[in-house]
Amino acid sequence: MDNGHETTSTGVLRDEHRLILEVAHRLGRMLDDESNGIPLNYDTVEQCITFFQLFADACHHGKEEDLLFPELIKAGLPQDSGPIAVMLYEHEQGRVFVRAMAASIDGARTGDDEANTALRDGAEGFIGLITAHIGKENDVLFNMADGMIVGPECKDLCAQYDATCSRRFEGRSKEELEDLAAGILGRG
Ligand SMILES: [Fe+2]
Repeated sequence: MDNGHETTSTGVLRDEHRLILEVAHRLGRMLDDESNGIPLNYDTVEQCITFFQLFADACHHGKEEDLLFPELIKAGLPQDSGPIAVMLYEHEQGRVFVRAMAASIDGARTGDDEANTALRDGAEGFIGLITAHIGKENDVLFNMADGMIVGPECKDLCAQYDATCSRRFEGRSKEELEDLAAGILGRG
């Protein structure tokens, strides 16, 4: 999965995008199934929330916000306008959706209709947002980054990504979070 990611400033992030999208789309299918009368598996939904909080946000958005975006700003992109400002704003919107899911899952599990609606709204909001957001990063900002951050800067950045990836996120390693995703996706 990580093959060759050290040769560009975005390879590892693009790999993570693929996994985030897979989990988001799996959640979307679960919501579709529920609409067709198949009960929601709340344990799996809870695992999705944990994955979005720790993998998509702490591990992945953390690398973008703390490492890639500052490097792009150093290379000349504006901080408060243009693609970086839009991406930061969308990360915040994503956090709001995931917080809404986390706040409503216990109520939804016990059959509270209002909580169930809030859970579904948060999930649908997040799935739509993250799908469009990742499309923009992959097709626009990351292509710019691949042209702007090359040579030693690229190597340094990848080393810093590795350092972040080897951290623990609320006690879980990146590998454990990838295993969590594999379980959600039915390949655990
Ligand atoms: Fe991203």
